[in-house]
Amino acid sequence: MIVTIDGPAGAGKSSAARELARRLGFRFLDTGAMYRAVTLAGIERGYDLPNGQRLAELAREIRVELNGDRVLLDGRDVTTAIRKFDVTTAIHYAADNPAVRQELVAWQRAAAANDDVVTEGRDQGTVVFPHAECKIFLTAAEEERARRRHADLLNRGENIPFNEVLANQRLRDHRDESRPVGALRKAADAIEVSTDGLSPNEVVTRLEQIVRSKQNN
Ligand code: DC
Repeated sequence: MIVTIDGPAGAGKSSAARELARRLGFRFLDTGAMYRAVTLAGIERGYDLPNGQRLAELAREIRVELNGDRVLLDGRDVTTAIRKFDVTTAIHYAADNPAVRQELVAWQRAAAANDDVVTEGRDQGTVVFPHAECKIFLTAAEEERARRRHADLLNRGENIPFNEVLANQRLRDHRDESRPVGALRKAADAIEVSTDGLSPNEVVTRLEQIVRSKQNN
């Protein structure tokens, strides 16, 4: 069974999807981590990220593994490094690059080939797994999402002003919604869930109910 969870940045997708996968005994795919790892590799190698061809070659060269909670880039643990603000602000070069997307979509489909998966991103229910049995679109109010990102960054020791986090999120929302390939869009058959006012546990419980009702159909 494939469960897709799409939605804007900061809606709480990652933690909810991870915990949902754990409860169901499914594999968890954090597809944003893949775009982040490609971006980090480009930054570390000093590549000119707007050079689309170079970035696409890079995506084909590197090996990104999602190993439980850890993200490995060519065998090196980059779990923390990929969440840094400089990676987040540069990620659109990878996310807007159709050849990079094509490569990452292939990784995502291969990872789901022989497993039950919960997969999380922007285009999972629309482009990558259009025939998924269960599709969820997770949202939350803009300010609430920015507050969560801000707190998250503070927890990691990055003290970015709230207004900068909010402005960056608005830009990312706009880019996520308007990119020509793999844009953030609610699939026609997705169930929308707002996480506003819900505790993390309540969110996962709601998602689990939705998946179980599909399993019983
Ligand atoms: O979910 P996240 O914040 O880790 O995602 C980082 C970026 O990667 C996000 O701004 C858009 C991009 N992304 C994407 O284009 N498609 C996906 N399936 C997942 C993420």
